[in-house]
Amino acid sequence: MIRFLLNDTSVELERPAGELLLDTLRGPLRRTGVKQGCREGDCGACAVLIGELSGERLSYRAMPSCMMLLGHVEGRHVVTVEGLNPPAGLTPVQRVVAEEGATQCGFCTPGVVISLTSTLFGSTTASEAELLESAGGNICRCTGYMSFRRAARRLAADFGERPQDPVARLRELIQAGVIPPHFESAPAKLRKLRGASEGGDQPAGTTSSSADYGIAGGTDALVQRRVATHIDTPHFHHRPQGIDLIKMESGDCVLDASTTFEDLKRSETWRTIDSRAVRNMDLVASQLIRERATLGGNISNASPIADGVICLLALGTELELQGPTGSRQLPLAEFFLGYKLTALEEGEIIRRLRIPGGRRLRGFEKVSRRERLDIATVNSAACFELSGANFEGVTLSAGGVGPTPMLLKGAAAHLEGAAATPDRLRGALEIAQSEVQPISDVRGTAEYKRLLLRQLVLAHFVEALPDHGFEELCL
Ligand SMILES: Cc1cc2nc3c(=O)[nH]c(=O)nc-3n(C[C@H](O)[C@H](O)[C@H](O)COP(=O)(O)OP(=O)(O)OC[C@H]3O[C@@H](n4cnc5c(N)ncnc54)[C@H](O)[C@@H]3O)c2cc1C
Ligand code: FES
Ligand code: FES
Repeated sequence: MIRFLLNDTSVELERPAGELLLDTLRGPLRRTGVKQGCREGDCGACAVLIGELSGERLSYRAMPSCMMLLGHVEGRHVVTVEGLNPPAGLTPVQRVVAEEGATQCGFCTPGVVISLTSTLFGSTTASEAELLESAGGNICRCTGYMSFRRAARRLAADFGERPQDPVARLRELIQAGVIPPHFESAPAKLRKLRGASEGGDQPAGTTSSSADYGIAGGTDALVQRRVATHIDTPHFHHRPQGIDLIKMESGDCVLDASTTFEDLKRSETWRTIDSRAVRNMDLVASQLIRERATLGGNISNASPIADGVICLLALGTELELQGPTGSRQLPLAEFFLGYKLTALEEGEIIRRLRIPGGRRLRGFEKVSRRERLDIATVNSAACFELSGANFEGVTLSAGGVGPTPMLLKGAAAHLEGAAATPDRLRGALEIAQSEVQPISDVRGTAEYKRLLLRQLVLAHFVEALPDHGFEELCL
């Protein structure tokens, strides 16, 4: 039995936990405001708001329902555009979208409204940039995106500074007609559901490792199963409730494997590791996907261009793996054994990630064919400090230039302890290009990828140390 709150109604369904949420919403639940576009997380037409109770706090995020299974919404509040509609007329978000011409055929519009509304819930500033970023995963074939920009600008002007207290924010949104009054009773309804549910607020479905298909956020697993309408006996990698997913422990930064890219973007603790976290995370997928995409999934999927992995490699991350017979530590750099081949043993999962104290990300760069919602052709990250005039603690990582994400060990060794001069960096760039084995494919020739790598590695140093004359190395 799966229990959740759908708009203003509690729902109990005898359906498989592995059924695609999109299909359940549009099929038996007849919430056809949720549109089916790509079924692979790319268009945002299927976006819904997911409300999650953590302690006394209920927070709402926009997520793509084609990247979620029914089991993911156990004990949660699922809001479709029907659940936002007022009895008559339009909500302020819908009105602005219509008046600014950000809707024509209307197919993308419910998803756009859901994404923009999520920012009014979640942000205390609701700036034009934040509103636009929230709709970055909503593709529109008709309007052209200037109308989206105008809509975001007007909403930012109308709502702007928001109350710090989430409850006060919610009340203000109800008063302004952005959401209907039934949202106020959602926490009590969810607590009641949680009481009735055997699994508490954890995803329904099996948690045994004998299950046939592992799934965390679902943004890799479900794309690989795109044509499937459901997954048999999914094995959910749980997102623990009521604990800090990102915290400092004995000087190290420790992250739960279920940490998402949006968790990183929002975390003040993470900002001490990556001071450019907002800019860097915005280079990954779209906000809709980042709300679901976990670091555990990013690592385990073992893509040679995984953005999270590239950052974590440079940071010297150590993995805590949990298996049927106990746990073990493994440096992330030893996790990838070959193309899509990992050191995970039967029944083992990634539980936590540990970044050694004192490590700071100094650069993350990525080139892809479009700026948003695209995987990298080549990506790279860097950590280094200056001790006087010399480099120290240098690590460089790169993706898309070999069968696995990799450390550029030769280039880093060339810089370690050496004077931070353009000449020294020139030598490191040459070594970096010689220690990779890119292949020519649809994303570019091997030669092009080598050149990209050089430029990305150089960019770390130009950005982080603007007064060292490294620009002279730019081609
Ligand atoms: C539209 C779109 C755009 C994307 N853009 C990017 C991008 O720009 N950059 C990027 O790097 N990626 C991108 N991705 C890929 C994907 O979002 C990430 O790799 C994401 O981090 C995967 O995490 P997940 O939780 O969704 O994994 P899932 O799909 O849930 O799982 C993937 C695999 O990892 C396993 N797994 C998950 N958690 C664990 C764990 N704790 N221990 C062991 N195994 C585990 C699962 O069993 C499964 O085999 C994109 C995906 C989509 C759909
Ligand atoms: S249908 Fe395109 S993102 Fe879900
Ligand atoms: S209005 Fe037609 S797809 Fe956006």
